[in-house]
Amino acid sequence: MKSYFQTDTVTLFHADCRDALAGLPSESVDVLLTDPPYGMAYEAKGKSGAAIRADGSRQGMRVFRQALTAAGPALKPDLHAFVFCHWESWPDFFDAASAHLKIKGALMWWKARGGMGDCAASFAPDYEVVLHGAGPTRRALAGKRHGAVLDGYPPVPARARTHPTEKPVNLLSYLLERSCPAGGLVLDPFAGSGATLVAAQQLGLRAVGVELEERYCEAAARRLEAGTALSLAA
Ligand SMILES: C[S@@+](CC[C@H](N)C(=O)[O-])C[C@H]1O[C@@H](n2cnc3c(N)ncnc32)[C@H](O)[C@@H]1O
Repeated sequence: MKSYFQTDTVTLFHADCRDALAGLPSESVDVLLTDPPYGMAYEAKGKSGAAIRADGSRQGMRVFRQALTAAGPALKPDLHAFVFCHWESWPDFFDAASAHLKIKGALMWWKARGGMGDCAASFAPDYEVVLHGAGPTRRALAGKRHGAVLDGYPPVPARARTHPTEKPVNLLSYLLERSCPAGGLVLDPFAGSGATLVAAQQLGLRAVGVELEERYCEAAARRLEAGTALSLAA
């Protein structure tokens, strides 16, 4: 399959990941870090645009399950995997991921700020769940043991986002620094604006991303190009 954008270390495909993942070399991926469609029929507000593709609850789960099945042969036995989930759909993601991975725990990205919903009669949804899974062979995480609450990574401000559910690069970098060996390969089948790929690029890791919507591929390619220009200028 032809790539949409490529650097020495990072490849982005404009494709349905269920097709693209079958072409990955077997047992090549060290870390799966992804933020699939949440299955919440998410409606974006503001300048960053429309609803997320495949985000109806049943459709989102079906795509995630099929993506994991397609990715299976490419995952190394000592893989670490991180999957962002909405609080309402994480049990479904847990079930789907459990069929392929040993679930090691759930991290909580504490966003330190509210969110939508019934402001007067519910607690603020100021966090996201990140499922942590692993392959059948154990590989230690780097550094001293850290708690499961990921604090100190503010959400990308709405005015700076190129994707309605864009994740902060420094949060993804933290997860990759802990879990990916030097020069390892990172996979994000639902790449969106390319935040995972940018984090991998900044850490000198290899990465493959797949994104269905061309406008987000364009955004990701622009970010990766800027990263290449920066490293050449340094
Ligand atoms: C929750 S967003 C990811 C946002 C990303 N983490 C970021 O920081 O920009 C999920 C993305 O998956 C894409 N998507 C949905 N179905 C897909 C599929 N079958 N293959 C590849 N990408 C898909 C959507 O277009 C959307 O951009």
